[in-house]
Amino acid sequence: MRLLIHNQKGGVGKTTTAANLGAALLRAGRARAVLLADLDPQMHLTAMLGAGTPAGAWNVADWLSGRAGAPRPVAEEPGLSLIPGAALLPEHMVLPAQDVPGRWTLLDSAPGWSAQIEAVSHWAELVLCPLEPDFLGLSGASRLLARFDEIGVPRSRIRFLLCRFNARLGLHQDVQARLTERFGPELVMAQTVRSSVRIAEAPGFGRTIFAHAPGSNGCTDYEHLAKGLAPAGTPVPGRNAA
Ligand SMILES: Nc1ncnc2c1ncn2[C@@H]1O[C@H](COP(=O)(O)OP(=O)(O)OP(=O)(O)O)[C@@H](O)[C@H]1O
Ligand SMILES: [Mg+2]
Repeated sequence: MRLLIHNQKGGVGKTTTAANLGAALLRAGRARAVLLADLDPQMHLTAMLGAGTPAGAWNVADWLSGRAGAPRPVAEEPGLSLIPGAALLPEHMVLPAQDVPGRWTLLDSAPGWSAQIEAVSHWAELVLCPLEPDFLGLSGASRLLARFDEIGVPRSRIRFLLCRFNARLGLHQDVQARLTERFGPELVMAQTVRSSVRIAEAPGFGRTIFAHAPGSNGCTDYEHLAKGLAPAGTPVPGRNAA
């Protein structure tokens, strides 16, 4: 399964979701392996989970140029591995043609818009768009969807995910209701990710939320999200293969 995590807007929870959803898919038994690719030149995902990555190591620019190499295993998360980020992505990308059975590839995108983001939007089977539950998040979601419409990414492949959610706030409930009303429930993940200090502090320890604060709300939310994206009964490709 190829999943792009994107929003033009910055700081909405893309990288946090890539790391923690990746771990959640494995822990919930919904994937046999998860490959995280850091497409963002800010390299936040690499800073978060790529401790000890040597300078000059095989990276996402090599991967997208078709050069063979090995992703780096993420500590404490069996099955999770990372393709470290690069300062520049190649102009002409060679996106892998074939999926490894049972593996999810999660791409953590940079904010903004680029030819590379367009290319990976077409390559991905699903585009997950984290957003914050406020007015700018809502108007940004409309603009983002219009962009995907323009380049021909079908709406059936797009999902919005409310992050840093607080159900006690009227504003958050209102944005959730308006998002669902505007785009339809099929485009909006019913599961939200609650605002959590534990989630915000985990990157400082180089860990996912599962390793940092087992049993916390963040674990519950990302695990439910994983199950929502890969519902029970969906065979994990390759898992039960003869
Ligand atoms: N559910 C949450 N609760 C609390 N803090 C969160 C949550 N999700 C993300 N954050 C924090 O919000 C900040 C932005 O998150 P993140 O880096 O994942 O966003 P991003 O969309 O990847 O940003 P960029 O566009 O710069 O790549 C980080 O400090 C992160 O720890
Ligand atoms: Mg990011």
